[in-house]
Amino acid sequence: MGKKIRIGVIGTGGISHLHMRPYQSFDDVEVVGACDIVPGKARAFLDQYGLTGAPAFESAAEFVKSVELDGVSICTYNTTHAECTIAALEAGVHVLCEKPMSFTLQQAVDMLRAQRRAGKILTIGFQPRYGYMRRKVDEMIDSGAIGKVYYVQSGGGRRRGIPGGTFISKQNAGYGCLGDIGCYSIDECLHAIHYPKPLTVSAIATNHFGTNPKYWKDAEHFEVDDFSVALVRMEGGVTFVFKQAWAMHANSLGNTLWLGTDGGIEVRNGFDEHNHPSSVILYTDVNGMQVDSQVLPSVGFNAYGYPKDQDNFAAKIRGFVDAVKTGGPDPIPGAEIIRNQAICDGIYRSSMLGKEVEIEIPEI
Ligand SMILES: NC(=O)c1ccc[n+]([C@@H]2O[C@H](COP(=O)([O-])OP(=O)(O)OC[C@H]3O[C@@H](n4cnc5c(N)ncnc54)[C@H](O)[C@@H]3O)[C@@H](O)[C@H]2O)c1
Repeated sequence: MGKKIRIGVIGTGGISHLHMRPYQSFDDVEVVGACDIVPGKARAFLDQYGLTGAPAFESAAEFVKSVELDGVSICTYNTTHAECTIAALEAGVHVLCEKPMSFTLQQAVDMLRAQRRAGKILTIGFQPRYGYMRRKVDEMIDSGAIGKVYYVQSGGGRRRGIPGGTFISKQNAGYGCLGDIGCYSIDECLHAIHYPKPLTVSAIATNHFGTNPKYWKDAEHFEVDDFSVALVRMEGGVTFVFKQAWAMHANSLGNTLWLGTDGGIEVRNGFDEHNHPSSVILYTDVNGMQVDSQVLPSVGFNAYGYPKDQDNFAAKIRGFVDAVKTGGPDPIPGAEIIRNQAICDGIYRSSMLGKEVEIEIPEI
């Protein structure tokens, strides 16, 4: 076997374990170090996986300069994605950055500029893209089955699903529900139609549950949004209606929907993160007859066939390793996800200003 791919992990909190496990299961990868700003945390993380000889750092900049690395997983909280990603790219290291891409649009722009200068991979961690039914919906839309898509609506949401820890801190997470699960909805809706350019957004991002001790135990520390809605005008005459909630007095904000000139696709109950098929309905018209078809999965539910990683998260890690080995392309390109980030940024700006705002993405 050739040289192993040398991987580092930056940020060794909750999600880093879901990166570490697949990395350790791959014969062609070695994890060669880790970093966390909390003293001792990266050391304990490496030791937990038996990597007692691998160095631990407290500064991402020091880590990427001191250790020979091919790639890093950035698993820090949202507001430090940009600084860690840029440090790695500037050191000539490929990057898999967790979602959301960043907090502000400007940070995402800075990350892409650093990528352009470095000529390295920058992929963003939206693992639901590897889901089998999700890919099938994308393919159906690409096939032209529903004609030209003019309306997209996100669905889902949680009845009671406020997380704790750094997710409710403005300083660490920046966003609340929007950056946690809202960015997934945006990706699900817009990747299927190749991310048309967002032009304007009118939105509200607020909270009604996290700050109420009746519904949330840590209400006095809750600083972010738990509910947001937006109307986004997009290039090509596409309207995108977005909504997301960490908590509400209902089980769902509705179904995900793409309406086209020749048909519609509805995802009922959302895509199941454990790869069980949700209900996907194709609405069409055959010789004037209105036809509703249920789309059934015809093979195993994961688009990647790797023996050890039959789940979307591991498929995302494998996708990054493969891209590092072949030199690209970026599996989930930051250059595309910047439009997701621009919408999140626009939602916050619009909500703060109480009016519709324009979305302008600077030249990279
Ligand atoms: N893809 C998914 O399914 C998924 C699931 C959960 C979380 N996430 C994302 O992963 C990220 C981390 O979430 P988490 O639950 O692990 O949070 P966490 O707070 O448990 O862990 C983040 C860690 O990063 C460290 N850190 C912060 N800034 C740093 C810096 N500059 N340098 C080094 N270390 C730094 C913190 O000390 C902490 O240990 C978030 O962006 C979140 O949105 C993704």
